[in-house]
Amino acid sequence: MAATNERRTFAIISHPDAGKTTLTEKLLLAGGAIHIAGEVRARGDRRRAASDWMKIEQQRGISVTSSVMTFERDDITFNLLDTPGHEDFSEDTYRTLTAVDSAVMVIDAAKGIEAQTRKLFEVCRLRDVPIITFVNKVDREGRDAFALMDEVADTLALDVTPLTWPVGMGGTLKGVWDFASHSLLLPGGGVRRFAGLADPALDAAIGADEAAAFREEAALALGGYGALDAESYRAGNQTPVLFGSALRDLTVEQLLAALALLAPGPRAQPALPAAVMPDEPEVAGFVFKVQANMNPQHRDRIAFMRLCSGRFRRGMKLKQVSTGKMIAVHSPILFMARDRNLAEEAFPGDIIGIPNHGVLRVGDTLTEGRMLNFTGIPNFAPEILRRVRLLDPTRSKQLRGALTDMAEEGVTQLFRPMIGSAWIVGVVGALQLDVLIARLEAEYNVAAEFEPSPFETARWISADDPAVLKAFVEANRSACAEDRDGAPVYLARDGWELKYTADRNPGLRFSATRERA
Ligand code: G4P
Repeated sequence: MAATNERRTFAIISHPDAGKTTLTEKLLLAGGAIHIAGEVRARGDRRRAASDWMKIEQQRGISVTSSVMTFERDDITFNLLDTPGHEDFSEDTYRTLTAVDSAVMVIDAAKGIEAQTRKLFEVCRLRDVPIITFVNKVDREGRDAFALMDEVADTLALDVTPLTWPVGMGGTLKGVWDFASHSLLLPGGGVRRFAGLADPALDAAIGADEAAAFREEAALALGGYGALDAESYRAGNQTPVLFGSALRDLTVEQLLAALALLAPGPRAQPALPAAVMPDEPEVAGFVFKVQANMNPQHRDRIAFMRLCSGRFRRGMKLKQVSTGKMIAVHSPILFMARDRNLAEEAFPGDIIGIPNHGVLRVGDTLTEGRMLNFTGIPNFAPEILRRVRLLDPTRSKQLRGALTDMAEEGVTQLFRPMIGSAWIVGVVGALQLDVLIARLEAEYNVAAEFEPSPFETARWISADDPAVLKAFVEANRSACAEDRDGAPVYLARDGWELKYTADRNPGLRFSATRERA
């Protein structure tokens, strides 16, 4: 990776089916990272059914290379981080968004803002991640462009500014107008330049009536929404909007250009005792994702580290701040989209894959020696709790190992009740339960099933006065458990019970998220 290159580390957020996979592929094609369409397709298919998705997930090789896709263009290194495509909100997705500097929000022109887009947007907003909006599928009948602009503005409380505008839509689509270059972008990737909107050549190109109607619309669009304000975009207040079609290669180049021109490079990363700036000389980064069992024969894992400062070199020793251990990183992996390259060097904004045997965990801070902790990479209180029942009781040791492994990956949480021996597994979305059972069987040869647990929700508990915490745990042993780090957790039968207990114990904090200390 060229040191002098600027970095654009970003993710695409969208609701399933809006066109994320197609757009990813077109961006990789435009960036020269792949050469034929279809290479990214396999991933798109996994959203179709949980069972298909699991099969593909089990071919871990695919999902690891596609978790991070790096390509270079015009002296800029783009790192595109994949967020899982299924509908369940997952912690994995959330944490991936902690590792990006900007996002592209893809919406379907016929559907507007959908549920998952909105959730992911809220996560971006928490961290003021700047967003470029791509309204996809203008080659199909969609909603009116003004209505779509207004929906983004109103439902997300963002200022909007159009960079491109569709000329017709669906059956009447003539192309997309690019305001900055006075060009008509044509389906299939062609471009026609004009002197301006008033250029009579436009009448000849699309028809006099269409041109007149479009000029009126374009004037309204330009007048009705504020002009592009790069500062406001970078602060997360304004979103530039591009209309286009990933499938028809419409506006994909312009999206890449907008990322290059507008999107921020590595930003200051929140940490304690102080935020880490990208120009600080010492290496510092954090692990936002761990993927286990790429090869079922070996219990290997890859920890994905976002580099926040310094210049990383292969062979470097990094300190895992939580344990004080030094880890020599001999075989780091960089994720050029075509293959996994061994990284010699990496720079702030880059993602490095660090193979390890379970030492590195999500949320870990790695430094050259400095004591600091990156913040904002939480665990979430699970919304679904289940007891695990082993079908073959002689495999209990394996079950325990497997559950611990998956908890380390951050896909599930594991609670050990203070009373009783059945582990309780917690997940944020229901699909994760199916995936868990399938993986237990495929990767660990453990047949298990879930049973309802008496509890519906969990909260991490803490108190300023340790005696208060201890007394609460003693008095509520049947509803208390420990997470895998030994942190105390209160399990409630329902939301009502949780509220009741919280109200009666004002000295305790009941938290829906926990960050590793
Ligand atoms: P996702 O990753 O966000 O879930 O979406 P994906 O790219 O898989 O796209 C979902 C469907 O929308 C696909 O059709 C895809 O071809 C289509 N699509 C994506 N971009 C455009 C576009 O710009 N215009 C039109 N008309 N369609 C688009 P599918 O029928 O589900 O899959 P396939 O059979 O085409 O592979």
